[in-house]
Amino acid sequence: MRVVMIGGSGHVGTYLAPRLVEAGYEVINISRNQRRPYRPHAAWQAVQQVVLDRQAEEEAGAFGQRVLALKPDIVIDMICFTLQSAQHLVEALQGQVQHFLHTGTMWVHGPSVVVPTSEEQPRKPFGEYGIQKAAIEAYLLDQARRNGFPATIIHPGHIVGPGWRPVNPAGNLSPRVFELLARGEELALPNFGLETLHHVHADDVAQMFMGALAHWSTAVGHSFHAVSPGALTLRGYAEAVASWFGQQARLRFTPYEEWKDTVSPEEAAMTYDHIAHSPNGSIAKAQQLLGYRPRYTSLQAIYEAVSWLIAQGAMEAPSLS
Ligand SMILES: NC(=O)c1ccc[n+]([C@@H]2O[C@H](COP(=O)([O-])OP(=O)(O)OC[C@H]3O[C@@H](n4cnc5c(N)ncnc54)[C@H](OP(=O)(O)O)[C@@H]3O)[C@@H](O)[C@H]2O)c1
Repeated sequence: MRVVMIGGSGHVGTYLAPRLVEAGYEVINISRNQRRPYRPHAAWQAVQQVVLDRQAEEEAGAFGQRVLALKPDIVIDMICFTLQSAQHLVEALQGQVQHFLHTGTMWVHGPSVVVPTSEEQPRKPFGEYGIQKAAIEAYLLDQARRNGFPATIIHPGHIVGPGWRPVNPAGNLSPRVFELLARGEELALPNFGLETLHHVHADDVAQMFMGALAHWSTAVGHSFHAVSPGALTLRGYAEAVASWFGQQARLRFTPYEEWKDTVSPEEAAMTYDHIAHSPNGSIAKAQQLLGYRPRYTSLQAIYEAVSWLIAQGAMEAPSLS
């Protein structure tokens, strides 16, 4: 089986490409060749690299045909962000592939109603990114129903792994938050610190793609949350990290409107986006239909990423040994 991954050298592809090669798939990766996988793996020698800029090819109206020309049995689309982009690809691949897997996001859900949120909850996305991803999901599910297009949608939470900064307990990417907790210094959190984040290790997202391929008949025409077994509150996350560093968390809580002036505008905006969504997703459907068994809790995944930050000198922390 030939798998074409579009954007397969990033967070998820770093883990997914080696899994595919080891499982015996013939793997082709489309990317601009600007980035390298986060971790070396001998399996990459078996991955055929096709250098294409999706945006440029789409503007020329040629991207779908370029993908089709690679004769894929399976297409894994990691980097689709607009309905138009999804439509262009589906029109080219209709009737030509056995499985089409799209990478969505938990942001297709707006604010939660019943938590943990199931895949079946009505979508109420806000913000352009979530709105577009929800429109893509609705389109792909409709194509599956009406035209038998073999689509599966996988919605990751906040992807974590060694090689990049995890979303921190204040809901942004500043390593300083981890530094304050590591030193036992005061950390201000917005509101009561009870809004949530839902991380997932990149390898568990990769595991879910493998599960969807292995369970084709139950995966087609469905969406699945790719998240850890449980979301974290900001407060609980901060307390756990402090304790991991052998400290007691010293937390101060202020309403978001005051709190936002204590950080940069970029950090404030990112925190707002995270806490306004406060994802808390259920994995029950993926457990039942795909055999999804995440290897990492949120905290285990985060500690791996924070250990990497420390090892890289990207944050200062007392020795953990
Ligand atoms: N990061 C998160 O926490 C998160 C959370 C939820 C959902 N998601 C979803 O996950 C997907 C991203 O997966 P990821 O995090 O594994 O990807 P990623 O780390 O952002 O990597 C993107 C990949 O796409 C390639 N790429 C970027 N622009 C391209 C272009 N114009 N043409 C061809 N290739 C291009 C990159 O390689 P080159 O630069 O070399 O081209 C790289 O291989 C997105 O659909 C996103 O919505 C992410």
